[in-house]
Amino acid sequence: MNKLKKCLFPAAGYGTRFLPATKAIPKEMLPVLTKPLLQYGVEEAIEAGLETMAIVTGRGKRSIEDHFDISYELEHQIKGTSKENYLTEIRSVINACTFSYTRQVEMKGLGHAILTGETLIGNEPFGVVLADDLCDCEREGVLTQMVNIYEKYKCCVVAVEEIPKEESKKYGVISGDVIKDESYKAGALVRVNDMVEKPEPQDAPSNLAIIGRYILTPDIFEVLRDTQPGKGGEIQITDALLEMAKIGKVVAYKFDGKRFDCGSVDGFVEATNYFYEKIQA
Ligand code: UTP
Repeated sequence: MNKLKKCLFPAAGYGTRFLPATKAIPKEMLPVLTKPLLQYGVEEAIEAGLETMAIVTGRGKRSIEDHFDISYELEHQIKGTSKENYLTEIRSVINACTFSYTRQVEMKGLGHAILTGETLIGNEPFGVVLADDLCDCEREGVLTQMVNIYEKYKCCVVAVEEIPKEESKKYGVISGDVIKDESYKAGALVRVNDMVEKPEPQDAPSNLAIIGRYILTPDIFEVLRDTQPGKGGEIQITDALLEMAKIGKVVAYKFDGKRFDCGSVDGFVEATNYFYEKIQA
């Protein structure tokens, strides 16, 4: 199978937990310090060697396209001033990759958003980043860690973390058999055989929850086409991945690093404090 080149960013959701801020501003453009969530995600993908950023947007999300573009007026205004270096990071992002966009017309869930992205991805494996899950790692980014696993196992990879069982209703929860692999910590890799979207704590198959990082093989699109609406009436990526897991094609990976749920106010504040303290140190 091909080398990974593309990364999909589903970014069409309404972000209702951040209303009224998200009435006119996409949730993915909310900044932690001075950088929008989506830029952190794109930087993580670039670090992992991915070159094409495929973004699924929706109505009211045009500022995403403007952000990953040159603003000539602004460039002209601050050229030669001390403020010029504020744009250094975003300029290097724009130079390091290409962006393509498509719109999800009806917000029918994450699985549907990923299927909408097929037109940008085509028939090759790809990364998926949910930018509202903001990750910080000491050495390699989560996506870099996952690309290494994909290259070894050549199947879908989902990033998981241990959660308190009472929080299972917020996540897709997996279970399976630990893979013995000396290159990884004991228990870090699991061959998934079951996964449930947002289970009640008593129905959760384990305490391992999927976070917003995936590597998917293109056969997922065929499965998604046949996936019926599940929890919340939405087309769930978890339901499609369960079909792949049944034939042994999903590995879960307990990543090294920290994750902040910036789709919730608590997680967003926690991330802001964490990154602020980090730049002070
Ligand atoms: P969330 O459920 O966290 O996002 O979806 P949301 O629906 O925007 O937020 P709330 O719950 O109303 O506050 C996870 C990711 O999937 C994308 C979202 O943009 C987010 O990045 N998504 C979700 C889509 O692109 N399309 C959808 O139909 C649903």
